[in-house]
Amino acid sequence: MKVYVCKNYEKMSAFAANYLAAQVIIKPNSVLGLATGSTPIGMYKELVAKYQNEGISFKNVTTFNLDEYIDLPKENENSYYTFMHENLFDKVDIKEENINIPDGSVENFEVYSKEFENKIQKCGGIDLQVLGIGNNAHIGFNEPGDTFSNSTSVVELTESTILANSRFFESEDEVPKKAISMGIGSIMRAKKIILLASGKGKAEAIHKTVNGEVKPGVPASILQFHRDVVLVIDEDAASLLEESSYERV
Ligand code: PGA
Repeated sequence: MKVYVCKNYEKMSAFAANYLAAQVIIKPNSVLGLATGSTPIGMYKELVAKYQNEGISFKNVTTFNLDEYIDLPKENENSYYTFMHENLFDKVDIKEENINIPDGSVENFEVYSKEFENKIQKCGGIDLQVLGIGNNAHIGFNEPGDTFSNSTSVVELTESTILANSRFFESEDEVPKKAISMGIGSIMRAKKIILLASGKGKAEAIHKTVNGEVKPGVPASILQFHRDVVLVIDEDAASLLEESSYERV
């Protein structure tokens, strides 16, 4: 696990955008795993700028998003479908048919989840997976629990995640209680992973992820076992790490 510490959110976003852009330059038909949330917004902004000013093209890129709320229409302003289109897809040259966001409105989630996983494999697997991290160290919507989930499935959100995400909704009651999420196994099968974290609120989760015991109670801790993972975090998120465990960039 390589940990890069950037001075602030802007530097973290720029570093992460360069990392993704490099992936797309090296392999123009890359399969990218993408994340939502506040953290990657700056990175997506930088990627849009790279598309506009540096000729980075997404026209042969395929994407798979980590998760989506269940029972929230995709037109809703808080759906991850809307988030991805507003922050990235509508602003670059990606083809709509190459975009894969879990559908939170299907009838049979079991069948749909298998199809979603199969599609990832049919595309050759994820080349680079982007992750955020929850205050409780969740990745995707894989909440702390008794086991590491293997593949895409329906998950119940924990109180702490519902509370954290209520900042986007009118009230806590309006936050969906369930989501469809790629599993820990789906994430671990990605060839490369980049995890972003910003702010003091993430410091404890980052500390446990980097230095703690690997256990399902800290879902992100499993990344210690991935052979190509980088954490790109700001100084606040790194505030509980020992200096020897990271590199400043
Ligand atoms: P955030 O969410 O980027 O909005 O903090 C991250 C997450 O919950 O995975």
